Amino acid sequence: MTERIGILTSGGDCPGLNAVIRAVVKAGQYSGFETLGFRGGFEGLLTPCEPVDLDYNRMDGMLVRGGTILGSANTGVFATKTGLGEPREIDESLLEQAAANCKSLGLRALIVVGGDGSLSIANRLAEHGVNVVGVPKTIDNDLDATDQTFGFDTAVDCATNALDRLHTTAESHGRVIVLEVMGRNSGWIALHSGIAGGGDVILVPEIPFNWPAVCAKVMDRERRGKRFTLIVVAEGAAPRGGAVAVHTTADGREVRLGGIGEIVAHEVANRTGKDTRAVVLGHLQRGGAPTTFDRLLCTRYGEAAVRLIRDGSYGKMVSLHGTEIVAVPITRAIGRPRRIDPDGELLLSAKALGIGFGD
Ligand code: F6P
Repeated sequence: MTERIGILTSGGDCPGLNAVIRAVVKAGQYSGFETLGFRGGFEGLLTPCEPVDLDYNRMDGMLVRGGTILGSANTGVFATKTGLGEPREIDESLLEQAAANCKSLGLRALIVVGGDGSLSIANRLAEHGVNVVGVPKTIDNDLDATDQTFGFDTAVDCATNALDRLHTTAESHGRVIVLEVMGRNSGWIALHSGIAGGGDVILVPEIPFNWPAVCAKVMDRERRGKRFTLIVVAEGAAPRGGAVAVHTTADGREVRLGGIGEIVAHEVANRTGKDTRAVVLGHLQRGGAPTTFDRLLCTRYGEAAVRLIRDGSYGKMVSLHGTEIVAVPITRAIGRPRRIDPDGELLLSAKALGIGFGD
């Protein structure tokens, strides 16, 4: 009899989710598994539990399609974090209900595609007897147990393209342009796109910045005849001794990171007298087709997840280690965030190129 495996996508979406689903369905079929997809993240496991049959013939075009055909959620009853990332407990009865539904569907295992919050729910489901396998997803690249999460390369590509465009207009007008990028409490998108896109100042959460240092860089360029400056700022970056910038939703309840780009532009304009503009890249970083690198990574991750299930190796997350895909315990994936090392090679190399970090 054909065995069943399940898959769900959870947390903020990112390019490549469908490519993972496709790889799981394809590899699953060749391993004799039927794949069930749960809609809307973990809530799709709750009663009435009505998974979709993910047929191999329906996977055409999924390699390049952005978003997720299963839907996802980073709010609701399975949200493990509040707006700024404070942990939130999941109701035990929901976990019991989800586990019971997995059992009654006869699932051999459940693949959870998500970031640290989603993988911590997967870990809780494992405690309730569900065989889980994780696939690391997030544009933020803030999972320590893998060298790279999928979605990150595409987000960096998007931010780099934005910088290429801002470069020409900043140069034409001799302006300072500030680009605010996502990344939550990690500055990976800012650092990688800032270097790849020729940014002059990169501000990341890992290095609290000071205003005089940021402005000195702008004025130093001015003295060298470079009348324009590109500043990349991560949404979670903050001035030394200051708080992160946040938006509060209309109902006043949810608080989200965002707004530092405008603050930086305002302050730099005031202190240097330069004509300054701010651009928030926002969810453009999460949409669209995955890059070639991400398509390959997603396909390898999806296949490796099925291989773990075939081998009966559960409670693991597939992970990129150097050039190899390996398996690590999910508990290690949710243990601690991956943050930029201020003394790391990439940062020192950027500094040696004259890029300022406001420190
Ligand atoms: O974790 C991915 C991410 O895009 C972060 O970079 C950003 O802070 C957050 O999600 C935005 O979430 P939302 O989808 O709620 O706007």
